[in-house]
Amino acid sequence: METIPFAVPYIGAEEEEAVLRVLRSGWLTTGPETQAFEQEFAASLGVLPQQVLAVNSATAGLHLALEACGVRKGDLVFVPSYTFAASAEVVRYLQADIVFVDCAPGSFLMDIDKLEESIDRLSAGKRAYGWRGGAGPCATPKVILPVHYAGLCCDMQSINALAKRYRLRVVEDAAHAFPAYTVQGTPAGTQGDLGVFSFYATKPITTGEGGMIVCGTPAYAERIAIMRSHGIDRTVWNRYTDTKASWYYQVIDAGYKYNIPDILSALGRVQLSRAPALAERRKKIAALYDAAFETDEHFIIPPTAPGDARHLYPLRLCEPLDRDSFITDLKERGIGVSVHFIPLHTMPYYKKLYSLEDDDFPESYRNFRQEISLPIWPAMTDAQINRVISCIQELAARHCSLHR
Ligand SMILES: Cc1ncc(COP(=O)(O)O)c(C=O)c1O
Repeated sequence: METIPFAVPYIGAEEEEAVLRVLRSGWLTTGPETQAFEQEFAASLGVLPQQVLAVNSATAGLHLALEACGVRKGDLVFVPSYTFAASAEVVRYLQADIVFVDCAPGSFLMDIDKLEESIDRLSAGKRAYGWRGGAGPCATPKVILPVHYAGLCCDMQSINALAKRYRLRVVEDAAHAFPAYTVQGTPAGTQGDLGVFSFYATKPITTGEGGMIVCGTPAYAERIAIMRSHGIDRTVWNRYTDTKASWYYQVIDAGYKYNIPDILSALGRVQLSRAPALAERRKKIAALYDAAFETDEHFIIPPTAPGDARHLYPLRLCEPLDRDSFITDLKERGIGVSVHFIPLHTMPYYKKLYSLEDDDFPESYRNFRQEISLPIWPAMTDAQINRVISCIQELAARHCSLHR
């Protein structure tokens, strides 16, 4: 039986050649390939090269972005409960607190009404929606961190309007969203104060591990350039190429080691050149799944909108289908799927920290109970896509008949 994995990166001979070129060049760490990657990434988004900084993960990027916003102990960051650990843990790195926000009804994206309700309540000295512990209402709302789940953009116009009204910063978690666009046609990751992309192995383009930060102002970029490299005032590459003594540098803050090596940036440059084709193929696969499941009462197909990157295919299973046994049976048939996400408010760490219950964020919890992410990698053949579809349809019929 042929197995169909959940995710397979698209790596060709060009990626291999690019990595080899760097290995043979004598310069492995952050250097000319990274500069070129930043410039090309900036051009692909229509922003200036100096706005864009490459890092070794999106987690590092989110950490640096919040740090550049001045987030610290006593501050509050609004994060959807329906996201990956990284979106929230970075808030804790800075000893600030998280206010989780539920999904909008029927959606995987943060509920902007609930977000507003929470900000309103906190501004009036009350507790936020779902908030029972932690720093309490005396903490200061500082940042909204929307997540463009599966490559579908949040309503950035409304989020930015809220942020402006309450003087908050916006850091977009665009880990899934390259290239993705708002319904107005503007690129995800360029609409907030800062935006962060991921090049993790399963992401729309990959460097194995890696990320990119887009900064809305030069001040953010200046701060991040220093903090991604130990708080040192000169980059390694500049130290060896400019006219000042190469050994000389000053540490001006306690920074981090978040730079990306040129080996990975070279890989990223090739992936970037493939991005439109990879995105097109994912959209094609998503359209085939949509057509197969749209009218089937066992399933809810993912909400979509123009500009959606369709990075994941989060299918929701309806009663009486049981998500967990469905996944087990798919695995037995050689089909790999995943779940995006186990909501953060159900995780032991956050439950304990903020005294949370599973049903505090009911939409998020319902999504989790129903969701399976289907394989949607660009090199999937039509035969593989059809096999995924027929297996799911067959299993749905079988599981339902067991309940009759
Ligand atoms: C929504 C979201 N944000 C952030 C991250 C972190 O990305 P990275 O692995 O590049 O740190 C991920 C990774 O899966 C993610 O799904």
